[in-house]
Amino acid sequence: MPSRARTSLDTVEAWKEATRRGASVSTVDFRSFTSDLVPERATHLLHAYPAKLIPHIPNFFLNAFRQDASKQLVVADPFCGSGTVLVEGLLNGFAVLGADSNPLARLIARVKTRYVDPDSLLRSLARLKKRVGELDACEPPRVVNLNHWYKPRIVAELSKLRAAIATIRTVEIREFMEVCFSVCARKMSMADPRLSVPVRINMQRKEQYAAHARQLRRHLANQTPENVFLTFSEIVRRNAMRVRSLMNQALPSNLIGIYDDARSLHTLAGKNSVDLIVTSPPYIGAQKYIRSSSLGLGWLGLARPDELRSLEKANIGREHYSTSEVAESLSTGLREVDERLLHIRKLNPLRAHIAAQYFVEMRAAFASMHQMLKPGGCLVLVIGPNTICNQQFDTPLYLENLAHEIGLEIEFRLIDHIRSRGLMTKRNRTAGMIASEWVLCLRKQSAS
Ligand SMILES: C[S@@+](CC[C@H](N)C(=O)[O-])C[C@H]1O[C@@H](n2cnc3c(N)ncnc32)[C@H](O)[C@@H]1O
Repeated sequence: MPSRARTSLDTVEAWKEATRRGASVSTVDFRSFTSDLVPERATHLLHAYPAKLIPHIPNFFLNAFRQDASKQLVVADPFCGSGTVLVEGLLNGFAVLGADSNPLARLIARVKTRYVDPDSLLRSLARLKKRVGELDACEPPRVVNLNHWYKPRIVAELSKLRAAIATIRTVEIREFMEVCFSVCARKMSMADPRLSVPVRINMQRKEQYAAHARQLRRHLANQTPENVFLTFSEIVRRNAMRVRSLMNQALPSNLIGIYDDARSLHTLAGKNSVDLIVTSPPYIGAQKYIRSSSLGLGWLGLARPDELRSLEKANIGREHYSTSEVAESLSTGLREVDERLLHIRKLNPLRAHIAAQYFVEMRAAFASMHQMLKPGGCLVLVIGPNTICNQQFDTPLYLENLAHEIGLEIEFRLIDHIRSRGLMTKRNRTAGMIASEWVLCLRKQSAS
């Protein structure tokens, strides 16, 4: 076994032993375990995505569980987002599969885990340039508040580029170009590039931008029709290098598939088929995945503006409910959670409903994970605590209890103090900011 895997496995064994001796949690810093991991690794930076997991966490566990290099293991991520776990899985020699309810996330994750000859991508870029030059005006797709986000001449250029990409016949090349196009469409929009959810830059309020005002002014000045293809070309070239880097570092790609709902991923994976699950599920009240993807979803025709709501409905942790849904009292089946929510309901019925629905849906997701795990297989869950109505709410502990009911036993608990993960802004006084991340390692009982 390589020495790094040996060290990771020894560390895991030490955490297990500490738990057996009564330790409830160990504090860790995953960045220091794998400090040589650079953000620019393989395809990780192909496309931005909110609340991305740091690669250090999956990298550490994949290393620890890859005990026998002669046998190919399977790792799944049922909430795979842009595919951080899947990319790390390939880099560590695993076969990988995932699920995500956001079609843009699935597209990004597919492209990030796929091998395509980088030279053919560059040849395709040259053909695209020619095709765009030949095209007359093209109809733009239905993008939410298109005129709010773009100058009209930028819309015209992006529409031509999009039409040219749609003519690419090879799916692998077309999807790679679509991901690059989504990055470009966001870059050419008037949305603040520092934020994951689109917020239009308003230079009238430049004192609010302080030191960033100059950077944002330059960003807006760069939005000329001539720059659309130039920007796209740069993105394609950089991303083609990332694909090359993935291919140079990993064994031949072994992506099993990417499904659309964590609650039924076992139907794709098969029963008792997965060795390891590493996942960071959404948070209670995390409604922003679809909103932050709305420009890409619209430009790529993955969701029209009137379809965004129904996409959001598939999101565990969502925030929008009708009055009649909120009025309905929901039991999570966890006594402690139900008692806490009964109290919260008196203060804020909507917040209580959001949390209750979250646990009901996470139960279904755990049931699917339990089905697909091999007996003795592990689930590594990365999740933060919340506050609800200004009260501490121990989501990790409650999820652990839920997993236990389903047949997953705790092996150890870790806490890592996070620095930044996109979505974690304090939005309002009732839904809280997450300041640390819990990592729970649970094992499926061998007898079940
Ligand atoms: C914390 S993010 C995961 C980020 C991912 N680890 C990465 O590095 O990009 C949680 C993800 O769960 C997805 N999600 C929410 N509900 C889901 C469901 N029912 N099935 C699958 N994915 C879901 C969201 O779309 C979001 O991408």
